Amino acid sequence: MAQEDVFKKLVSHSKEYGFVFPSSEIYDGLAAVYDYGQMGVELKNNIKKYWWDSMVLLHENVVGIDSAIFMHPTIWKASGHVDAFNDPLIDNKDSKKRYRADVLIEEQIAKYDEKINKEVEKAAKRFGDSFNETMFRQTNPRVLEHAAKREELHTRFSNALNANDLAELRQIILDYDIVCPISGTKNWTEVRQFNLMFSTEMGSTADGAMKVYLRPETAQGIFVNYLNVQKTGRMRIPFGIAQIGKAFRNEIVARQFIFRMREFEQMEMQFFVRPGEELEWFKKWKAIRLKWHQALGFPASKYRYHDHEKLAHYANAATDIEFEMPFGFKEVEGIHSRTNFDLGSHEKYSGKKLQYFDPELNESYVPYVIETSIGVDRMFLSVMAGSYCEEELEGGDKRVVMKFPPQLAPIKLAVLPLVKKDGLPEKARSIIDTLKFDFKCQYDEKDSIGKRYRRQDAIGTPFCVTVDHQSLEDDTVTVRFRDTMAQERVAIADLASIIGEQVSLKSLLKKITE
Ligand code: GAP
Repeated sequence: MAQEDVFKKLVSHSKEYGFVFPSSEIYDGLAAVYDYGQMGVELKNNIKKYWWDSMVLLHENVVGIDSAIFMHPTIWKASGHVDAFNDPLIDNKDSKKRYRADVLIEEQIAKYDEKINKEVEKAAKRFGDSFNETMFRQTNPRVLEHAAKREELHTRFSNALNANDLAELRQIILDYDIVCPISGTKNWTEVRQFNLMFSTEMGSTADGAMKVYLRPETAQGIFVNYLNVQKTGRMRIPFGIAQIGKAFRNEIVARQFIFRMREFEQMEMQFFVRPGEELEWFKKWKAIRLKWHQALGFPASKYRYHDHEKLAHYANAATDIEFEMPFGFKEVEGIHSRTNFDLGSHEKYSGKKLQYFDPELNESYVPYVIETSIGVDRMFLSVMAGSYCEEELEGGDKRVVMKFPPQLAPIKLAVLPLVKKDGLPEKARSIIDTLKFDFKCQYDEKDSIGKRYRRQDAIGTPFCVTVDHQSLEDDTVTVRFRDTMAQERVAIADLASIIGEQVSLKSLLKKITE
């Protein structure tokens, strides 16, 4: 199935089964804003808990905070967001649609990658088992031609971005015949910078209200609290502060479902280190974070690092962890070595000392910072995309199954009485009554057992427990496993341990400490 079709199916599946709804849908929606439904919120909470526990339980020197969304407006001046948090945008004069110039060019670069991949796929089919992909990529003339064109465009693009050369970005769009997907024309305006922060007004005084911003990242709440936490928690460098919270950006290209939203959620951790030790810690956190992703069990080939060529003004190293979405490899998490830029700048703007006294060195300094920053919604999308499966069954039937890592599944078990009578519903409910304290359970008695299995597959429930007449006699039930569809008769008394072993976050957390 074409990846585009997979993505469309994923979006409609998300809506049909209560994962994600367009916001304000009865008013025709609000662009790039989404609501999480009854299944979505469970999955999202499980992702957040996995991240939070991996930070604050597994690292003695990482603690959490929850700072406010509204912050003093000078913070955004100090952080550089007022002056430099811009996207280069371009309008098509015929369709009147607005685009990010850099995204238009990145999509053109991705087209070369697609062409190369198609050549590789074709050849793999032709040569079968004897196919040597590495050799083919290095020697096939068509692949080499596409790769050279890609490299040429990429270099020109990086140079334009690094030089902040807006005219050159426009020229690239013209030279590469990039057209508006709506009008199909090249009738482009100049490229302009557009600030992504939302602003509003706070209070009302005789002199007028104060302009405040909705935070575009949660990180600044950590920076401005770093000394509060260090002093009250008696933290010693190196130490980290973790936070989960909403962030807001007035994105121009708000497409691809929950990949790029205007209101989204971040899980960020700032790790404060001695100056000079930051690159070593950057390397460590890069490895720790990839392990966190990989512990979920999706194929290793779905992840890759993307080291930044163009570093933000505050960074001396940066990498992304990318996941292969149905629309290509995309950034899910950023790991940045942010130097002492933010704290140094807050010292300057606030006039307050933000230095740390290092008792081992007997000196004071502004710490350097390693940041790990992951979008909850992008992580959610990667888990949805990695889990979505369509399977042909014996007899020509089909099933859509969300093969979630069991620890993240919204519902851990469904309890299904075989029939709606003879005391089976009561027995099923008594099982839920004992298990509900540990696991999110669902009771379902409607329709045939086959249909009920399909419904649970569609929401990714790892265990279906069927209660039948034998259950009344010997306190056993059938457990049906989601991925293999195998069924096993087990004692009701053993359910908690069978399920617990698979769904507890502890098993994931252990994996990342191995
Ligand atoms: N504090 C650093 C920072 O905010 P970023 O690369 O701009 O860095 C970090 O964002 C992460 O936040 C991204 O890797 C992505 O997962 C998520 N993110 C950023 N913008 C987003 C958006 N508009 N919609 C959804 N997630 C977004």
